[in-house]
Amino acid sequence: MRFDDRFLDEIKSRLRLSDVIGKTVKLRRQGREYVGLSPFTKEKSPSFFVNDDKGFFHDFSSGKHGDLIGFLQETERLTFVEAVERLAAEAGLALPEPDPQAAAQEKKRQGLTDWLDAAAGWFEAELRRPVGKPARDYLAKRGLPEADWSRFHLGFSPAGRTALKDYLVAKGARPAELVEAGLLIAPEDGGAPYDRFRDRIIFPITDGRGRIVSFGGRAMDPEARAKYLNGPDTALFDKGHVLYGLPEARKLLHAGGDGAALVVVEGYMDVIACQRAGIAAVAAMGTALGEAQMEMLWRLHPEPTLCFDGDRAGKLAASRAIDRALPLLKPGKSFRFAAVVGGKDPDDVLREQGAAALKSQLAGGTPFAEMLFNRERDAEPLDTPERRAGLKQRLRAAAGTIADKDLAQAYRDDLLGRFDQLFAGARAQGGQGASSGFRGGGQGHGMGGGRRWRADEPISPFPTPEGVAAAKRLATSIEPAPAALAKQAIVDPHVLDEHLEALEAHGFGDPALSQLAQEIIRLRLEAEHLDSEALQRHLAATGFSALLTDIDRAAPKSGAPFIQSDVTLATARAQWSHAFGILNRLAALEQALTAAKQDLADRSGSAVLRSLKTERDALRRAVKLGTIWAQDGS
Ligand code: UTP
Ligand code: MN
Repeated sequence: MRFDDRFLDEIKSRLRLSDVIGKTVKLRRQGREYVGLSPFTKEKSPSFFVNDDKGFFHDFSSGKHGDLIGFLQETERLTFVEAVERLAAEAGLALPEPDPQAAAQEKKRQGLTDWLDAAAGWFEAELRRPVGKPARDYLAKRGLPEADWSRFHLGFSPAGRTALKDYLVAKGARPAELVEAGLLIAPEDGGAPYDRFRDRIIFPITDGRGRIVSFGGRAMDPEARAKYLNGPDTALFDKGHVLYGLPEARKLLHAGGDGAALVVVEGYMDVIACQRAGIAAVAAMGTALGEAQMEMLWRLHPEPTLCFDGDRAGKLAASRAIDRALPLLKPGKSFRFAAVVGGKDPDDVLREQGAAALKSQLAGGTPFAEMLFNRERDAEPLDTPERRAGLKQRLRAAAGTIADKDLAQAYRDDLLGRFDQLFAGARAQGGQGASSGFRGGGQGHGMGGGRRWRADEPISPFPTPEGVAAAKRLATSIEPAPAALAKQAIVDPHVLDEHLEALEAHGFGDPALSQLAQEIIRLRLEAEHLDSEALQRHLAATGFSALLTDIDRAAPKSGAPFIQSDVTLATARAQWSHAFGILNRLAALEQALTAAKQDLADRSGSAVLRSLKTERDALRRAVKLGTIWAQDGS
């Protein structure tokens, strides 16, 4: 860590959190805090709080919280170091002097960087000299105009053995440092070092801050031993921690706004093609995407899209990526998958079909869970009970490899839900489906084009064993207030109209009712007009009868006025919304507290924790006492 706590505290004491945040978020004072609309979600009522005394912000809509540095990291997609550098400048603080050893190392790195910069300039210049004619022709043939050579700093390394070496040595470089920089190769037999890149198109590789750390070179001669040659790992270049195209991708993401995708492709030329088309793209360099690179991607985007060829090799690569990423997935951090069709790569698509075609092929993509499910489904035929049970086991095992406990559970539910639907669909189609419809081996399942569950498919009329068992297990202890909310929502489904998102996020405020909530959402979204009777019929048919009985039993204990029949519909709806809002806030608080406990270890953090806890406890009491039904002033 380059910055000590004293330096960080000094920054925080010089800058007021609400001033820094106030530059991008409109804040209104409310007591000792400021409140505004969340910069992380598209909420309509403000639930984003900034507390200058504590030096923390908390966003209830997304569950995010943090300090000054965290805010910049989250909203501007900066690394920790970048955020600190930026804030230090704003606070008028000089960056701390590094210790002597670190200083010496830094100086050496700077020396290597200088030679890489000089080399990059030379490569670029060579491309434009007479010797670069074949390279210019090659780039023209690949559809890259001169403006793009400059934008991506493309260059050319001529064929001689020591052309670059001679140039840099004349400028004062020692061959040994050029070897260290990865520019020269030192023969094993102790002979004189010679140029690594010869007769190749040169792609400079930069780190996250745009400093050149290495090069990739493409042979123009189809007979060349290696099509691409990359620099070796050096003091500056750690392949597993670098993504080609990152700084440019960051710019494109910013320009593209909230909905912009971040695409991970396979090659240098693919990154360039995407970025020319306005798509933020990066690539690993000839290696599979590693853990550090996945974390880097998640700092830029919650759900980067991994793009692979639609062919066999591409599918295999996607499958490996699934296995590597699965344990690392976190709440809110995942990947999508996109495939380019017809054995092409993004560069081919741009050249042959244009930017719009490339954009549309990379847009959307298949969610991670669906990719995973399809892969397991297609792994072998599902024509016997043993094989179907085997699929279920594989799905459980896959979910089990996710390190985050909550997400692992959510995956288990999702995958088994898909499993149930697969066979529910077969039964609804007339029973023969299992022998005819579920061949494995992936025939007809293009990547991302696998069978999707359409909203117009019939709702399963069969209560699944899982559903029934879960309903029975959960039916035993339901809190009265959530029960009252659920009961009223079933009696008058319209109360949900404006609350579906909140219901999706937190259910009715009792985990025992979360399956019910999800089922109601599903039914509500699928049916144009869902009346109470139809809803109750569907719920009974999908295994929720026992739960509904328990809800009936628990609801009257809540003290909810609308459970008595002497209120008007309008009053009932108002009371319902008010109480639902409180239970939602409570659920968000519980969630935030759980997350906060893991993240905040320092003292200022525990002050935030305390104030969150105080609010949570007050809400818990209100729920217990049944004082959540009356709206303020009534
Ligand atoms: P591809 O073989 O898919 O090439 O390699 P490409 O990107 O489509 O290249 P063009 O369009 O033929 O120029 C994908 C990536 O794998 C690495 C490079 O990073 C390349 O961009 N690679 C490939 C190597 O490192 N060495 C090789 O010999 C080949
Ligand atoms: Mn290509």
